[in-house]
Amino acid sequence: MKVDVLLGLQWGDEGKGKLVDALTRDYDVIARFQGGPNAGHTLEFNNQKHVLHTIPSGIFHSDKLNLIGNGLVIDPVVFKKEVDRLAGFGMNIRKNLFISKKSHLILPTHRLLDAASETSKGTSKIGSTLKGIGPAYTDKTGREGLRVGDILEDNFLEKYNYLKEQHLNKIKQFDYPIDLEPLEKEWMTAIEFLRTFQFVNGEYLVNEWLGTGLRILAEGAQGSMLDIDFGSYPYVTSSNTTCAGACTGLGVAPGTIGNVIGIFKAYCTRVGSGPFPTELLEETGERLRTTGREFGATTGRPRRCGWLDLVALRYTVMLNGVTSLIMTKADVLSGFDTLRVATAYIINGKTTTEIPFDTDTPVEPVFTDLPGWSEDISEMRSKDELPENLKGYIRYIEEQLGVPVTIVSVGPDREATVHLSSLLMAHG
Ligand code: GDP
Ligand code: IMO
Ligand code: MG
Repeated sequence: MKVDVLLGLQWGDEGKGKLVDALTRDYDVIARFQGGPNAGHTLEFNNQKHVLHTIPSGIFHSDKLNLIGNGLVIDPVVFKKEVDRLAGFGMNIRKNLFISKKSHLILPTHRLLDAASETSKGTSKIGSTLKGIGPAYTDKTGREGLRVGDILEDNFLEKYNYLKEQHLNKIKQFDYPIDLEPLEKEWMTAIEFLRTFQFVNGEYLVNEWLGTGLRILAEGAQGSMLDIDFGSYPYVTSSNTTCAGACTGLGVAPGTIGNVIGIFKAYCTRVGSGPFPTELLEETGERLRTTGREFGATTGRPRRCGWLDLVALRYTVMLNGVTSLIMTKADVLSGFDTLRVATAYIINGKTTTEIPFDTDTPVEPVFTDLPGWSEDISEMRSKDELPENLKGYIRYIEEQLGVPVTIVSVGPDREATVHLSSLLMAHG
């Protein structure tokens, strides 16, 4: 058996939560491989909306297993809130959820450091979700981090206090006001809560599952354009959001990776700072934001909106070795006479199809215009019902990316998907 990977190809919020949940029926295990509570994965079914931050999006299927991989950074406080919320829906997830001992812990002082560092940057801030992600991964690579497995050790408090002191010294340099005590109290309670979950050697477990023939779907967080290596550095997150991150974030060998399912919105959004060549700053952007309800699932911040960027998508399809595509939020584009997609950039007077190294470089997108569709597609469930111009839009994307679009999502609900196999060019 292979590990399939589902990951975002843009700047996050592509609809990963919805699709992982919808695809969970085809798998036995859902395994998150990186990121932390900066993620907000929304699922909707039975007229209920759920937002997950740390817990894999397969959790609502009681017969499936879920793994939080070693590649994650976990804030016990956020985790406890998530679990408590699920308990409010009558769910006990203890049996189906496994947490890698090697995943790292976000301390309250990581969050404070995140805030202090962002404040100090002024207008050049990253636009972090302020969940402590950057500082927690910094400690991981700096070999000072606290891991989930450390909770079980006798010297846990000693290690915690050492790290906390380091952080407090750093915060002093920022001259940032803090009130740590209540945060620390809440965190310690949450640590005791976390302790009651199943801690595992994730890398052994996941390979054992593979060996016994279980079907595994690795769930990415954020998007490939926020990857620490390949995103618009420094306006990125602090983990590898691309496919290789599934190997290091779970402990599976590259050869075990099967399908790489790349998910993208039919247009683009971005939260936080950083380049966004196709951004629409006028009423068209506002229209996408309103119709698409483009407000962050984690922070509530309005998302920046723009036309589809095929330069970025070609890049992330390449980086991830994407084998099939899912396009979400096609319903949001209904009613536009013309849809624009960027196929190249003009940089310093030269046309290029590459993402520039320097994020400050002014980039002018080269657009191709495609005809829109007026039909409300949100209730459509079969490929035959889809408007011709939507099929044309998809066909154009497939041609440009050389990968088939196999699912189109037409609404937030679990069931609001249209399977396209054998419909378009790339399917023959
Ligand atoms: P994720 O981080 O990739 O899981 O995505 P988010 O949950 O942050 O953001 C996606 C938003 O779009 C959520 O509010 C979803 O409920 C919603 N959504 C997902 N797919 C569709 C779709 O096809 N159409 C519409 N209108 N909304 C969708
Ligand atoms: P999901 O999994 C969208 C963005 C932040 C900021 C940058 C760095 O829901 O798609 P961080 O908190 O990681 O230090 O922030 O990355 N960001 C996301 N944007 N979706 C996400 O996750 C994101 N996680 C981080 O807005 O620009
Ligand atoms: Mg999100």
